[in-house]
Amino acid sequence: MNNTLVLEKIAEALVATGKGILAADESPGTCDKRFDEHGIPKTEEMRRKWRGLLFGTPAVQTALSGVILYDETLRQKADDGTLFPELLKSRGITPGIKVDQGLEPFEGSSEEKVTKGLGALATRLAEYYALGARFAKWRAVITIGTGIPTERCIRENARRLAEYARLCQIAGIVPILEPEVLLDGTHTLARSEEVLTQTLKIVFEEVEKAEVNPKGLILKSSMALPGKESSRQSSGQAGKTATPEEVAKATLSAFTQAVPKTVAGIVFLSGGQTPMEATVRLNEIVVQAKALKAPWPLTFSYSRALQAPVIAEWKGQDGNVASAQAIFKKRVEETALASQGKFTA
Ligand code: 13P
Repeated sequence: MNNTLVLEKIAEALVATGKGILAADESPGTCDKRFDEHGIPKTEEMRRKWRGLLFGTPAVQTALSGVILYDETLRQKADDGTLFPELLKSRGITPGIKVDQGLEPFEGSSEEKVTKGLGALATRLAEYYALGARFAKWRAVITIGTGIPTERCIRENARRLAEYARLCQIAGIVPILEPEVLLDGTHTLARSEEVLTQTLKIVFEEVEKAEVNPKGLILKSSMALPGKESSRQSSGQAGKTATPEEVAKATLSAFTQAVPKTVAGIVFLSGGQTPMEATVRLNEIVVQAKALKAPWPLTFSYSRALQAPVIAEWKGQDGNVASAQAIFKKRVEETALASQGKFTA
């Protein structure tokens, strides 16, 4: 099989019906922040145990197509000495790798950011391929506020996403492009839809310019949601008062206007929604997408919405591993049902 076909097959498998992706690519710093909330010691060994708990959950492979890892995790081993990428592969789960290197201010702005990590990226991708990674993730962050995002900042992020994607495809790695429109802010659902549409249009303009094959890439998107601090958020819960129907309609409107039909699939981040919100909204998006005969497979690539209740159960205690794994399995299965429009609360 030539390189193009191999990439398309990997991408297709990642968004196969009834399956989705676990994002377990938090940097050690972010992982430690989550550990802090539960009094878990912030050590490399505890991070290894945590990832081992997730990846070793019995039968979870029926609903997980891939896992995104961080550099540290890609090199770590399960309790039996198997490297994590090998463990995942042996369970039929494709290992992926986060390759961006975080954010830097855009042209000195304190509000807008661009993602860095293009330096030596081709070399890093070759090493990640050798370590077993077959897909990658690059996250750009778009903030909604007064006068922002600017078209220039979106464009710069999009250029970098397209260049990352180009280098990934050359390396035989499927790129996931994640331009995350943040939930933070006081904006309305309509404003979120507008920014999501603009962002995706610019991203795919740059993807086309860079001659990246859309069939060998996956878009990772936020849902269109009213800002966390918008006036409709009196309870303080993320996106609470926008109905799932409104969220789905706005999100699919953005995709229909901006995402090429040939893109292999679209996966969602959870972005600070509660696990149930992220599940119910995904379900409704898929229900509406089917009615519209939307061209892309749609599924999840959640971190917090899959992991939050699991880490709360585990608390770093060996004695809680089995009960935490049971919660993880249920979370993944519920979310996989939602990715087929079959979830009922
Ligand atoms: P959340 O689902 O917690 O938003 O994380 C997804 C992700 O991969 C962010 O880059």
